[in-house]
Amino acid sequence: MKEQLEQIKKSALDALESAATPAALDELRVRLLGKKGELTAVLKQMGKLSPEERPVMGQLANSVRASIEQKLEERKAQIDSAVLEAKLAAEAIDVTIPGQEVCLGHQHPMNQVLQQIKDIFVGLGYQVVDGPEVELASYNFTRLNIEEGHPSRDRSDTFYFTDDDSVLLRTQTSPMQIRYMENHKPPLCMLAPGRVFRKDEADATHSPMFHQIEGLVVDEHITMGDLKGALITMMRKIYGVDSVTRFRPHHFPFTEPSCEMDMQCHKCHGTGQIDGQVCSTCHGEGWIELLGAGMVHPDVLRNCGIDPDKYSGFAFGMGLERTAMGRLKINDLRLIFDNDVRFLNQF
Ligand code: PHE
Repeated sequence: MKEQLEQIKKSALDALESAATPAALDELRVRLLGKKGELTAVLKQMGKLSPEERPVMGQLANSVRASIEQKLEERKAQIDSAVLEAKLAAEAIDVTIPGQEVCLGHQHPMNQVLQQIKDIFVGLGYQVVDGPEVELASYNFTRLNIEEGHPSRDRSDTFYFTDDDSVLLRTQTSPMQIRYMENHKPPLCMLAPGRVFRKDEADATHSPMFHQIEGLVVDEHITMGDLKGALITMMRKIYGVDSVTRFRPHHFPFTEPSCEMDMQCHKCHGTGQIDGQVCSTCHGEGWIELLGAGMVHPDVLRNCGIDPDKYSGFAFGMGLERTAMGRLKINDLRLIFDNDVRFLNQF
């Protein structure tokens, strides 16, 4: 029995020494000291010993048990600290490694140009206002002198909500002229940017949704000269002091007289040609149409309770996408709405 105990002790200590994980240690504890363990089995045979041998063997068995227990504690402490070391090493943070660059976004190019235009007009004393995209036909058309039957009210051009064609998605920001004059008396200076909608197929220069910026000034003695001054000031700020613009007669039902403003093509400098080829930016015109404008029609003033004999005004409506495309030299309208960051990052 003595040899048996010595043997148990030796193999137990060896096994403990080579155990490497907390789980292996636990397993050993059960195998060595548990009820079904080797030591317990030996102790069960103590009854067969002579009375002289019994205390000697008992003492020896206790000391074997104590050695195993001590070794267990020792190994447990070693393994726990090794596990901790490994964990600390694996989770160590090297504070000297350069950080990952944070990728900052920026304003969409359309908003950059919109912001610039707003800043210009706020500097000229205009109030920037917002209005409904779902609009009444009376504001979008009738009170702007666009009578029923006018081609621009056609169902093939306009998104209507109701069978009687009285509610629609605004096709222009001009209804904001009416809404503003209803609530403000002259002198007034208003700028109303916003989305407008037309039944257009999307291509390089068309989209069923685009943005316009409406401007309106009404006061005593406002003339076409004021209109030209405001618009030329804006163009020079956006496109540079040497940008060349021209005014061309046009017709709008809600302004009289009316005009359109063109900018000399920045690509071909007004020649309409590049290396003997038709300029692709202005299609050979030499000019790019920028906006519609005119003196507010007396009927429109009257529709809003403003006396046209005392007051006069001018209004303009410009396409934001078109302005941004010219300003940022973008050649396809759809790129503006795709929102591909590879495209947007360029601005
Ligand atoms: N609303 C007109 C358009 O969409 C532009 C315009 C606005 C013309 C104001 C004159 C005055 O074409």
